[in-house]
Amino acid sequence: MLADIIVDLQYGDCGKGKVTHHLCKNGDYTHVIRYNGGCNAGHTIFHEGKKFITHHIPAGVFFGIKSIIGPGCVINPDKFFDEIAELERGGIKTEGLICVAKNAHVITDEHLEEDGKDSKIGTTKKGNGPAYRDKYARKGLRAEDLPCFEEYLVDIYEELHIENNAIALLEGAQGFGLDIDWGDYPYVTSSHCTAASALLNGIPPQAVRKVWGVAKVYETYVGAKAFEPKDEIFKMLRLVGKEYGATTGRPRQCNWMNWNLLEKAANINGVTDLVFNKVDVLREIQKWNILNNKEKIQFDSEEGMKTWILDKLANFPTNPTVYFSESPNYI
Ligand code: IMP
Ligand code: MG
Repeated sequence: MLADIIVDLQYGDCGKGKVTHHLCKNGDYTHVIRYNGGCNAGHTIFHEGKKFITHHIPAGVFFGIKSIIGPGCVINPDKFFDEIAELERGGIKTEGLICVAKNAHVITDEHLEEDGKDSKIGTTKKGNGPAYRDKYARKGLRAEDLPCFEEYLVDIYEELHIENNAIALLEGAQGFGLDIDWGDYPYVTSSHCTAASALLNGIPPQAVRKVWGVAKVYETYVGAKAFEPKDEIFKMLRLVGKEYGATTGRPRQCNWMNWNLLEKAANINGVTDLVFNKVDVLREIQKWNILNNKEKIQFDSEEGMKTWILDKLANFPTNPTVYFSESPNYI
């Protein structure tokens, strides 16, 4: 089998949905697999002029590609069925395309109730943390334990290695800055958000062709910690960039891109391709700043910023191909 992996290099919301959509349109995939998280994710996708927000279901479904919620995920049955209905209403054919790994874990009403009381982390209140806790405490429910999932269940090993010689696209959720191990603990999510997390879903390391890292040319974060510096410019950035949560509607805190985080995330994930999204937003506010080693580098122009980024990445071990995107619709 072969696999490409998509990872977010910042705090989620960098535009993974768009990159998945782009790769599905142009790629040779037999399967698209979500490898971590639950319905805390909100992937905004523009498909044939219509806006869709997916939470559980991978973007392969827009192209008739078998789309699997992998064993590394947690799944809320109600939200799963709502989402299928929503896609169908939007004219997307889902029948026979959507699958759930039988060993994915279930988000229960108890998990939702518990997470609903969170105020410390600023979670999405979708039950993620409690569901992963119960998984690791070995008292969780798996998808195969619920009759409602029966017709959707797959065994990932059979599916990818035995029945098919699969070419899989692995779609991540959240991002490096929210990773349970690499993020700013405890202000993190409860799953792994790196390329390694994709492998945990039954992908052998030598099958990986490409690792697509996705970032924005500035940063946003949603959660309880203070993140945004006091400066009116970030209010403008939020407005122009439409930086409001796709899942919860919360305003996203904004800051300039932190190059040190980006570099760490790109190295740890071994990115071969790197997409910087939302160049059009900085163009509109006419500011091009990057934080590096706690200092702000101010560029006079978009070109100046791009050249600096390309120079930095030229020395990277993986020598990634770099894309600057200036549209929600295409790379
Ligand atoms: P949880 O994943 O709901 O437990 O939330 C933990 C932290 O991750 C909070 O700061 C959330 O706002 C953040 N978070 C979770 N999912 C996403 C996402 O898809 N995009 C951005 N932030 C997220
Ligand atoms: Mg999102």
